[in-house]
Amino acid sequence: MKNIMIINGPNLNLLGLREPEIYGSETMEDCMLRLRRTYTDYELEYFQSNHEGDIIDEIHRCAFPDAECAGIILNAGAYTHTSLAIADAIAAVNVPVIEVHISNVAAREAIRHTSLIAPVCRGVIAGFGLDSYRLGIEALLNL
Ligand code: DQA
Repeated sequence: MKNIMIINGPNLNLLGLREPEIYGSETMEDCMLRLRRTYTDYELEYFQSNHEGDIIDEIHRCAFPDAECAGIILNAGAYTHTSLAIADAIAAVNVPVIEVHISNVAAREAIRHTSLIAPVCRGVIAGFGLDSYRLGIEALLNL
């Protein structure tokens, strides 16, 4: 069975508690339960880290042949706007990456309008709450 890897970056371990007016009150565990029930033909793996290097290591790991990874759904959190290193990691691997955001970053502060990773991702989904992850998987499966 092929894997789909969902990677969350910094502060996304606090979903459900963190600024619920922006990110909602659902936890990522609830979201993963729903996704695993929906996409039974794939192994849905989840990785979260607050550390840039760990996210890069995980992206590399997805490219190993034994990872059997169909693609990555990546919410890099604030690293989206700052991390050339994560952008380089995405460019280095031959695995499709879909950038997702819970909030509509285009409607927020100007600093969030820039994504360093968008040019190396297959596309971007933002603003649909935790449903952005499902929409990301749909986009991946339709590539
Ligand atoms: C976010 C948007 C980022 O700007 C922010 O730093 C996050 C979450 C989102 O999912 O809406 O941590 O990626």
